[in-house]
Amino acid sequence: MTGRMAGKVALITGGGSGIGRAAAQQFAREGAKVAVLDLRAQAATETADIINSAGGTAIAVTANVAVASEVEAAVAEVVSRLGAVTALYNNAGVDSAGNVEVTEERDWDRCFDVNAKGTYLMSKAVIPHMRAAGGGSIVNQGSVAAMVAVPNFAAYCAAKGAVVALTRSMAIDCAPMGIRVNAICPGTVFTPLMEPMLRARGDGDLEAGLAKTVAKYPIGRLGAPEDIAAVALFLSSEEACFLTGSTVAADGGMTAQ
Ligand SMILES: NC(=O)c1ccc[n+]([C@@H]2O[C@H](COP(=O)([O-])OP(=O)(O)OC[C@H]3O[C@@H](n4cnc5c(N)ncnc54)[C@H](O)[C@@H]3O)[C@@H](O)[C@H]2O)c1
Repeated sequence: MTGRMAGKVALITGGGSGIGRAAAQQFAREGAKVAVLDLRAQAATETADIINSAGGTAIAVTANVAVASEVEAAVAEVVSRLGAVTALYNNAGVDSAGNVEVTEERDWDRCFDVNAKGTYLMSKAVIPHMRAAGGGSIVNQGSVAAMVAVPNFAAYCAAKGAVVALTRSMAIDCAPMGIRVNAICPGTVFTPLMEPMLRARGDGDLEAGLAKTVAKYPIGRLGAPEDIAAVALFLSSEEACFLTGSTVAADGGMTAQ
């Protein structure tokens, strides 16, 4: 541990899996007390257990980021158990396959509810505590789908675009409070979220789907959850003290082409 997050209380949404779990572990290794929030109680507990067994400090909190009452209760619980949140990583997200013609209204709404509204609700609940603590950092999870069109992912592209626009808006509003707000746009990372998409891209064959996807990445591989977690850690640390309103493409060069 080098203590880049010493003294900070970090709240990571979607911390029960994939990128969120990797981030929770990295933040804890750097000295943060970590609240792992997830819709799935057992998944959040597993992440917290991994951290606590490794000598870190973590608690598990269950909430749906798209439901205001659950978000408010979860943030109150985190503040009472760990103290004011000074690093929020709005990572929880869901995708939805389909172009506009075939996307069902309920899938469109779910995509916006979790990705965009969840980011708004979590930030709304955390900002008063962060401001009272003298400032902090918010990192919002976008996607390369906010920067370039991903075929047949209309609702996801639109919802992640909203997250990136919200990041810029929050950054200028929160700057006077000492709160920095940045977004990460990850390229494809092999996590449970992505497996169905990779399988579909290979006409049912996961290996074929992986090969087709890797071909789009100049760096010659897909991302690992740890690659994205490291960017979130940097943006949440004092090393990034002059960054706000930024959108960092963590995508192995995919959107540089
Ligand atoms: N994996 C990728 O290739 C990739 C690429 C770009 C962006 N992203 C984004 O990164 C984030 C994490 O993705 P991942 O691949 O680690 O996904 P994942 O499915 O492995 O993990 C997401 C976690 O979020 C939780 N979650 C889902 N809905 C929730 C809700 N309403 N409230 C609270 N928790 C909820 C899930 O239970 C799960 O534990 C998402 O926002 C995703 O859109 C992922």
